[in-house]
Amino acid sequence: MNLKDQFIEYFVSKGHKQIPSAPIVPENDPSVLFNTAGMQPLIPYLMGQPHPYGKRLCDYQKCVRLTDLESIGDKTHHTFFEMLGNWSLGDYFKKESIGYSFEFLTSILKIPVNKLAVTVYEGDDKIPRDEVSASTWASLGIPKERIAYLGKEDNFWIPGNKGPCGSDTEIFYWRSDEEVPEKFQPEDDRWVEIWNNVFMEFYQDAEGNVTELKQKNVDTGMGLERVVAVLENVNDNYLTSIWKNLREKLETISHKTYEGNEEAMRILMDHVRTSVFIASDPAGIKPSNTDQGYILRRLIRRAIRYARKLEMDIHSNFLEELALVVIEEYQDYYHELKENKEVVLEVLKQEQIKFSRTLEKGLKVFEKVAQNSNYIDGETAFHLYDTYGFPIELTKEEATLRNMQVDEEGFKIHFQNHQEKSRTASAGKFKGGLSGNSEIETKYHTATHLLNAALKKVIGPSVHQLGSNITEERLRFDFPCDHKLTDEEKQKVEDLVNEWIKEAIPVTKEIMSKEEALKSGAECMFIDKYPNEVTVYKIGDISKELCGGPHVNNTKEIGHFKIKKEESSSAGVRRIKGIIE
Ligand code: ALA
Repeated sequence: MNLKDQFIEYFVSKGHKQIPSAPIVPENDPSVLFNTAGMQPLIPYLMGQPHPYGKRLCDYQKCVRLTDLESIGDKTHHTFFEMLGNWSLGDYFKKESIGYSFEFLTSILKIPVNKLAVTVYEGDDKIPRDEVSASTWASLGIPKERIAYLGKEDNFWIPGNKGPCGSDTEIFYWRSDEEVPEKFQPEDDRWVEIWNNVFMEFYQDAEGNVTELKQKNVDTGMGLERVVAVLENVNDNYLTSIWKNLREKLETISHKTYEGNEEAMRILMDHVRTSVFIASDPAGIKPSNTDQGYILRRLIRRAIRYARKLEMDIHSNFLEELALVVIEEYQDYYHELKENKEVVLEVLKQEQIKFSRTLEKGLKVFEKVAQNSNYIDGETAFHLYDTYGFPIELTKEEATLRNMQVDEEGFKIHFQNHQEKSRTASAGKFKGGLSGNSEIETKYHTATHLLNAALKKVIGPSVHQLGSNITEERLRFDFPCDHKLTDEEKQKVEDLVNEWIKEAIPVTKEIMSKEEALKSGAECMFIDKYPNEVTVYKIGDISKELCGGPHVNNTKEIGHFKIKKEESSSAGVRRIKGIIE
């Protein structure tokens, strides 16, 4: 029996009702493009509305997460995945939930207790240390050394920046042939998280105010592909049985082996699978330049780009052949694949026809620019978009491959001008697809300026922005630096940013000529590429940058800033990923 069936059978035997997977595009929640967790469609019920199926539910839910599209190509990331979940809506709580998870893992899946470890919430001034979870784990046989207490960043879960939330306990599995160390060190990445049990007893609004929910809920989530990899004892998710048929089909039609072509094949397989699921959704998403349609377009075009990299004939019916395997694999679980099969194939075909005609020509333009310059200006980026159908993300990716920079701000200006000219401009259009200007992204824009300023203070004045990218979930910032930041440096940078946020400094905007801006010492990445009139954003005496915005009015609106990751981006360039809490 496969894992999905085992999971459902187990929880049904414990009095849970199976609910169908909700559509991938949320039906009543315009704040997110896709369901990113099993709980998303259940928010009203976690808040207290009675669910027609009762208080104990379980399911497998289709999810799409696009936070780190550029991580796709490694062994563990997917844009589409299935989440196994069980819920108590004001019924059982910590003890029973932990008991079920433990029994399922050790008795049904037969995972040895010795390969498991857990984290629990260490507590703060409002929520006490989670001794109930810790003692429940201990009573089941998890030794003390394998129970780690962690803080809010790790053991508190909330969907985005508002919603039902609470502390959680996470279960880890030792994924390595080396001997299991006695003491659990959560930062050792041989321990992989396999299941998250969230104890939802609070509601947090967008301003950060926390209130108690009417009922105490349990929300759990287990990533299917990851657990299958654990059970099948492979350390590359794409080598599991989940991908077997698709992998073999791809090997056949590309006349290449997976081994040696892993990255391109993973990207192609991942994007085809996700595109099939998005296109089959009852929401009827079609490739377009906004919102979900833009994501679908990007995925299909990126898949075609990687097929070309694999030297496949991009005019052949390879997308259809791959899509048929995905449909065949999943249709018994998700009927919409069967019902909308023709729609899916047509969507892929039409988008392929559109893009494969111009891809070669666009890449030629690229090569030509690359011969004389290491820089794609806004006009060229827009030309690639408008004439050759290159989503800006694809242009950026191609540029990175050739060590080139792209003037994204310049692209945006051209894009906006074009929209105004063609009178099709709608605020939402720009917002949805190409560059989100949501409230949270606005905060990230300003946080990026603060981060830049803080790095200059801590590392030195040579720090400046080499690249930046913002999504609803995080910011990313690249800067020149010859060493890995120490923990102390990271802490200092983080503290400085948070100090400035607390100081509630107004953010002001001034329009001036380029010369004036330069004279005033405003920082700018590609000064030559800006129009004569530019916008300069100032944050007190801390930062002055030429920028298209948008920004918050006052730093206090940002919230709490946290560095999530600091890593090398290329030689002499470091990359920080940061979040706002
Ligand atoms: N909602 C929780 C998660 O996504 C279970 O991790």
